[in-house]
Amino acid sequence: MAKDSLSITDNRTGKAYEIPIAEGTIKATDLRQIKADEADFGLMTYDPAFMNTAATRSAITYIDGDAGILRYRGYPIEQLADRASFLEVAYLLNVGELPNRDQLAKWTHDITFHTYVHTNIIKLLEGFRYDAHPMGMLLGVVGALSTFYPDAKHIDDAKNRYMQRVRLLAKVPTIAAFIFRHSRGLPYEFPRNDLDYIGNYVNMMFSIGGRHEPNRVLQRALEILLILHADHEQNCSTSAVRSVGSSHVDPFSAVSAGIAALYGPLHGGANEAVLEMLDEIGDKKHIPEFITKVKAGEGRLMGFGHRVYKSYDPRARLIKKTADEVFQQTGLNPKLEIALELERIALEDDYFIKRKLYPNVDFYSGLIYQAMGYPTDYFTVLFAVGRLPGWLAQWEEMLNDKDQKISRPRQIYTGAEVRDFVPIEKR
Ligand code: SDX
Repeated sequence: MAKDSLSITDNRTGKAYEIPIAEGTIKATDLRQIKADEADFGLMTYDPAFMNTAATRSAITYIDGDAGILRYRGYPIEQLADRASFLEVAYLLNVGELPNRDQLAKWTHDITFHTYVHTNIIKLLEGFRYDAHPMGMLLGVVGALSTFYPDAKHIDDAKNRYMQRVRLLAKVPTIAAFIFRHSRGLPYEFPRNDLDYIGNYVNMMFSIGGRHEPNRVLQRALEILLILHADHEQNCSTSAVRSVGSSHVDPFSAVSAGIAALYGPLHGGANEAVLEMLDEIGDKKHIPEFITKVKAGEGRLMGFGHRVYKSYDPRARLIKKTADEVFQQTGLNPKLEIALELERIALEDDYFIKRKLYPNVDFYSGLIYQAMGYPTDYFTVLFAVGRLPGWLAQWEEMLNDKDQKISRPRQIYTGAEVRDFVPIEKR
């Protein structure tokens, strides 16, 4: 029976080592014993961008990039998108099980009764220009929430952590809606406890004079989109939340780090970049010229490609299906035609096939958001509202993981050797 281990011979010394293999990995610290001589620090791994490094063990989300599988706590994303509510999924991610009626009722009550924000938050928002980017505002205001709840720094208290996660799940949609209202110069529509989570958010966004006729099809479509964005294992923004949270800072500050990472066009900002790209292409007839530029390395096909999925992102497939239901309500987004043709051409082109580049979660989501009336620069805020339960679940799991401590990678030093200070007159 083959042993679960690596037999390594260091050819510099002729020494042999047995490194145990567990769960498809070796412990990087097991390499430190491999030294060229006694003064040697010992071997490290070099893995910029963590292309092949597991930074944690996690029970929250499972992705099979080749098979295009995504499961939250074992439940296939297709079933959750079809049958669950966003708050059920948020509970599932954070607690590990689907809630029964009583558990869901308490979870919903706790969140519903914390949707208000301190009126000073409104003063904070007034400090932003009318044309401030919504993600810049979200980043700033969520970080500032830590100053309103100083008790949030007691991260060693489980009950306290629950309270802060409830506050964030409850208040981020309110802040997101207030950001939209500020950008439009509209009065704020305050949370209503008689509405459900999605209905309250949509009402705060679009109610005028206290009136907003909800479109149940569009509200369910938005809920499905938020479910599809709820978690995605160790992506860039989740890794940011885990890394910043590992310093034992409060969760508001850790989540604001996740918002900052998500803002980037290579990550959550891609949904906004896709619409800008479709606007730049302008018409189907310009697609071949655009594809030629991308293949020449002049820019990227935004909304395509993924570090893990080397097949069609299962979320993109579900979003495309949801798009049909939305467009039946809103009328077809004319840019859909360009997007579909762009996908058709790219999926037949060897450049994209060879690199296993397929549409990801961001390729179609913006088309739906735009059809629903959300401005392009607001799309990533919707991504953040969806991803929040995942960030919080990963933060909680990190704090309960006995293997984890403050995140502090090593480096390969490539700088100058020791040298003496040179006075300015001699430089
Ligand atoms: C999200 O990690 C997650 O789970 C993220 C996410 C989540 O739910 O949290 O799924 C959400 O962020 C989705 C990704 C959104 N970003 C985009 O759509 C931006 C465009 N896509 C890329 O920039 C890129 O595909 C990434 C960032 C998504 C993944 O980049 P990788 O894995 O680091 O791959 P790479 O940049 O090393 O590219 C490998 C090759 C390169 O070509 P060569 O150097 O080998 O010749 O593929 C090419 C790249 O040039 N390539 C693309 C491309 N993506 C990669 N070429 C054209 N268009 C693209 N979109």
